[in-house]
Amino acid sequence: MKFRKLSALLLTVAVTGSALTTAAAYGTGEPEKRFPASQYRHDVMEHFSYGFKKLTMIMKGQAGSKDDIAAIAAIMAEASTMTKRAFEKDTRGMQGHTEAKAKIWDNWEDFAGRFDKLEKDAAAFAAVAKTGDMAKIKPAMAAVGKSCKSCHDDYKDD
Ligand code: HEC
Repeated sequence: MKFRKLSALLLTVAVTGSALTTAAAYGTGEPEKRFPASQYRHDVMEHFSYGFKKLTMIMKGQAGSKDDIAAIAAIMAEASTMTKRAFEKDTRGMQGHTEAKAKIWDNWEDFAGRFDKLEKDAAAFAAVAKTGDMAKIKPAMAAVGKSCKSCHDDYKDD
């Protein structure tokens, strides 16, 4: 039951991430360069895409080892402590590519609160990942994955 649903979710996260990257690079012919703050926050967010891609392969038994889950979760938990700061600078009107919607800085409390939740969920995931108990790891991982799409739907251009 849950395992299949979770794999599908994680796969969606991974695929969406790479499809968007491809679209951004090739969609408009000559891609517009990101300004530094945009590149920085993009690179911070990529930690989560890389994390979920690896977790998906491990969960599907394609590559990697379950023994790596704790390390991957720890990296994601560390990365989550950088997310809010990476977006703090109001870059509305800056020249260059970004997928961050202007309304982030009109709704900063809501936006920042979602990163606080991601940080809490990622810390909880990292904590249970250390136990190696898959029955606890799966729901904790799903909780981390849940925030991604809803924030992207509201605050990220595709
Ligand atoms: C609070 C909002 C929020 C949450 C939660 C969030 N993101 Fe993002 N993410 C963004 C925004 C906004 C951008 C666009 C940044 C830019 O281009 O300047 C982004 C960019 C990205 C990118 C870069 C994509 C690209 O095509 O450039 C990836 C990958 C990504 N997020 C993955 C994730 C994953 C995986 C999660 C869940 C663990 C997640 N994000 C959670 C807001 C969020």
